Amino acid sequence: MRQTEEKARAKLNLSLDVLGRMPDGYHEMRMVMQSISLHDQVGIELTDDGAVSVRSNFRFLPVDGRNLAARAAEVFLSAAEVKGAGCRLTLRKRIPVGAGMAGGSTDAAAVLRGLNRLTGTPFTADQLEELARGIGSDVAFCVRGGTQLATGRGDVLRPLAPLPDCHVVVCKPRFSISTPALFQQIDSRRSALHPDTDGPLAALEQGDLTGVARRMYNVFEDVLPRQYDAVSAIKAELLDGGAIGAIMTGTGSAVFGLFARESDAARVRASLRERYRDCFCTTPASFCME
Ligand code: C5P
Repeated sequence: MRQTEEKARAKLNLSLDVLGRMPDGYHEMRMVMQSISLHDQVGIELTDDGAVSVRSNFRFLPVDGRNLAARAAEVFLSAAEVKGAGCRLTLRKRIPVGAGMAGGSTDAAAVLRGLNRLTGTPFTADQLEELARGIGSDVAFCVRGGTQLATGRGDVLRPLAPLPDCHVVVCKPRFSISTPALFQQIDSRRSALHPDTDGPLAALEQGDLTGVARRMYNVFEDVLPRQYDAVSAIKAELLDGGAIGAIMTGTGSAVFGLFARESDAARVRASLRERYRDCFCTTPASFCME
């Protein structure tokens, strides 16, 4: 087998807390991360020319080493010591860029999983996650997927009970928000209130969708500059339309709501779609590793 297709699922944060700044400048996180069915499709073809190339339907994406998928291929091929091997990557993207949905990280994770299969599984799941940690903080989660408690830089994972079946509406405003800039806002807070992450954890354990949805919290919303008011406006629309809970994911700018009823989710999505191009109805997804 020389080529394969891999689903690269997006992630959402069901809760997100920043515990503090670490000596290396990164931040210590405590977050509940959730895969969703919304995904990019990643085509991976092994070649003998030693080069890594990327094509994508999103014309503005970099196709060199700044693209995390290309970076993942380089890291994998060098670690696996496959002599002379290169690869051609085709990214069919649906996940919006700059949304807090790990679009780049999940493409990178899909490349690691796909290349591992194509080259006769040289790495165990744990080793693949270790490679992922060197590529970006969210990549290890994206290799594994499902519902996980993420601590450390966001790359120390503990599996959680799955989010109960529900419908998810995700909507991204037209702007993106700079991740380093939001971390700086967090650092300059005078007092830090911490959300009750144990609340959603207990609710997940009990299979209690309402309990999870009502306790979702993202501390980055506390420090959002005024120009990003669309985030709270979308949140209000999701809640008015029947979402049990709604928050921003990661450092935004996408906002999502959890719904018990598909008809409510579809109606709100249709209404938001009139003003925001990046609007999706999706569902929670489980484990990515076979
Ligand atoms: O690890 P990654 O390259 O995805 O991180 C992007 C940026 O997000 C980092 O350069 C850093 O500014 C910030 N970050 C952080 N603490 C984390 C994760 C990311 O400060 N735990």
